[in-house]
Amino acid sequence: MEHSQVAIIGSGLIGRSWAMVFAAGGFKVKLYDIAQQQLTSALENIRKQMKELEKSGVLKGSSSAEQQFALISVCTDLKAAVEGATFIQECTPENLELKKKIFGQLDLIVGDNVILSSSTSCLLPSKLFTGLKHVKQCIVSHPVNPPYFVPLVEIVPHPETDPSTTERTYALMKKIGQSPVKLNREIEGFVLNRLQYAVISEAWRLVGEGVISPTDLDLVMSDGLGMRYAFIGPLETMHLNAEGIANYCERYSEGMRLVLNTFGPVPEFSGEIVQKVNQAMSEKIPVVPKVLDARRKWRDDCLTGLAKLKTQMKSN
Ligand code: NAI
Repeated sequence: MEHSQVAIIGSGLIGRSWAMVFAAGGFKVKLYDIAQQQLTSALENIRKQMKELEKSGVLKGSSSAEQQFALISVCTDLKAAVEGATFIQECTPENLELKKKIFGQLDLIVGDNVILSSSTSCLLPSKLFTGLKHVKQCIVSHPVNPPYFVPLVEIVPHPETDPSTTERTYALMKKIGQSPVKLNREIEGFVLNRLQYAVISEAWRLVGEGVISPTDLDLVMSDGLGMRYAFIGPLETMHLNAEGIANYCERYSEGMRLVLNTFGPVPEFSGEIVQKVNQAMSEKIPVVPKVLDARRKWRDDCLTGLAKLKTQMKSN
């Protein structure tokens, strides 16, 4: 197999998740961080998570938690971390200068075959990779939190990224069980966040204008739109809600445009509405680490169940 060893740079929330996903796919993983303490706690956390996933029967991959855990090693020496790796996934904090510094360091020590990939949520490849000697091997692979349960990965090339880098990254993501999508060019927010921000903006305006309460707004998504979006996207929804897309446009374009023309400006996300939404959310889920963690755990359990259902529905 071409990609047998990967390096993960940064062992925080996302780095840990990537390490687990790659280990489940049978890859040797070297986890690098500047702080030994971070690495120690990352390993403890990964072992615990793997054991729990195994116990609940939802560990990914075909080997045991013990076997998968044994594939992961840690180090605080960048050169040693990337030695022998064919794919490097950078997961350091979302800070352009820091990431540029790290890719600059990597650029000096890697060969011509390794892929340099960033987990960045919103920094554009042209900002991250321009000027690097190995720019052809650079790409963004943007995961969705939590990547272990939500498989989508947005693959975003730099204008100078070699098409083979994109293809290899795509194939690798498939191999480890993620669900990659390719963007043909970079764009602010990539695609997932553009869609997400469109929804958040309108949610914010509706709550801000007093049309609906914050908790009811969320229900519109979780018990309404979201139910179908876990299986079919907005375009297929159009297709199925009429006799095909063309028929949908014939029937509904005027109505859609009427509604869309009433959308307000980009919200400020400040002031009174923040307090209003915060109060409603905090009543339901107090902003206390223990409560937030319990709710996140519940979310992950839901996503695991949904992932199982999706697999089952696919094989039907
Ligand atoms: P985090 O703060 O949990 O982890 C960052 C890790 O990087 C820490 O372990 C830190 O010690 C380490 N680090 C700091 N400087 C370093 C350096 N010079 N070299 C190596 N390691 C260094 O951050 P998180 O949430 O894991 O985010 C990582 C990246 O993933 C960011 O670019 C973020 O935008 C992206 N991302 C985050 C998502 C999220 O929901 N948290 C979702 C998708 C992408």
